[in-house]
Amino acid sequence: MAVSINYVHNKNISAAPGPDWLTIAAGAEVRRLHESMAAFAPTELKSLKNLAKQLGVRAIYVKDESTRFGLKAFKALGASWAITRVICDKLGLDYRTITFDELRSEKYREAIQQMVFASATDGNHGKGVAWTAHELGCQAYIFMPRGTVEARRAAIVAAGAAECTITDMTYDDTVRMVAKRAEQEGWTVVQDTSWEGYEVVPRHIAEGYMTMAAESLESLREQEGDDKAMPTHVFLQAGVGAMAGGVAGYMVNAADEAGKPRPVISVVEPNEAACFYDTAVIGDGERHPAGGNATTIMAGLNCGEIAPMVWPVLRDFSSFYLAMDDYAAAEGMRQLAHPIGDDPVVVAGESGASGFGAARLILAHEELKALREEMGFDENSIILLYNTEGDTDPENYRRIVDEGAYPLP
Ligand SMILES: Cc1ncc(COP(=O)(O)O)c(C=O)c1O
Repeated sequence: MAVSINYVHNKNISAAPGPDWLTIAAGAEVRRLHESMAAFAPTELKSLKNLAKQLGVRAIYVKDESTRFGLKAFKALGASWAITRVICDKLGLDYRTITFDELRSEKYREAIQQMVFASATDGNHGKGVAWTAHELGCQAYIFMPRGTVEARRAAIVAAGAAECTITDMTYDDTVRMVAKRAEQEGWTVVQDTSWEGYEVVPRHIAEGYMTMAAESLESLREQEGDDKAMPTHVFLQAGVGAMAGGVAGYMVNAADEAGKPRPVISVVEPNEAACFYDTAVIGDGERHPAGGNATTIMAGLNCGEIAPMVWPVLRDFSSFYLAMDDYAAAEGMRQLAHPIGDDPVVVAGESGASGFGAARLILAHEELKALREEMGFDENSIILLYNTEGDTDPENYRRIVDEGAYPLP
């Protein structure tokens, strides 16, 4: 069996202005709040120079989110911004000037302590919600889909959840159940997907990821020695698409502001939970649920439905929708764990390594030459990837990286 990646090339990419809610100015507001958090530190942008040379491109940068807030994933960026916005709204505070420390102070403690947040999650998002709620002295109830490994549930409890329950439902059904339960209990839902009448919080979650995008662009420009440099290719792994939408929108606006070509943006998913890819195959401009069997090691990407609030962004500004088997992510994890020469090590989990895994297979494997050419890679290509998680399932990480589980075909 040969290495393969399923793909759809979006021929209807838009030249219209980028999304007006994912601008550089909006990103700066989000970043100001994050930088006011005691636990905040920017993450590293790692340059894989030897790999870039071997693969015939100018640069390969990996934004390493495995260290974010000590939570092994980027997701608390979205949850913390969204929860801050909910609190500011409830208490009549100005989110443009408030600091996280002020929210934790005596002045607001009593009011915030009474708030209860709830979320459905396949792991990292729920950890972000639980952690933020805990930091602010309030409670979070978290629900996970069937098949979740205990290590992920335990990590959410350790991050500060009042309760974390593994249900007997799929991710998408768990989301629906939480929405209903929250209504009965008077909880505030912090969900990264939207539905009719529930659009504000999910948008804020996607906005929260602009801090990651802004930091990555700033470091890329520093390392390139050019304050207007842009990546030529960006790979963004998607579950519901909140992260991919937030980062893609920001990158389109950043390119326009710098007067540079917009990057070729690729959305990356597992074959068995490929709502963007399956939607692109149908190609009628509407969202469609994933057709797969929802079984993949890329737990964070195991979502069957596109988040409506980011669909216009990813419909109009993504060039490629990729869907791949688990071995592509596993091979990415191994390559990042055992880099060439003095390239830095990146500890990447299954979902975290998926964007890199796709890019590397496309650049390195003869079977994918047609796709490589269609994507327009050459010696001037600057590739930007996001390692969105560390070893969030340590046992599986060990099996894959040390024992070679999920080998290339
Ligand atoms: C590690 C990791 N990467 C990427 C994603 C995808 O994010 P989104 O659901 O916003 O598409 C997730 C989602 O849980 C994740 O956990």
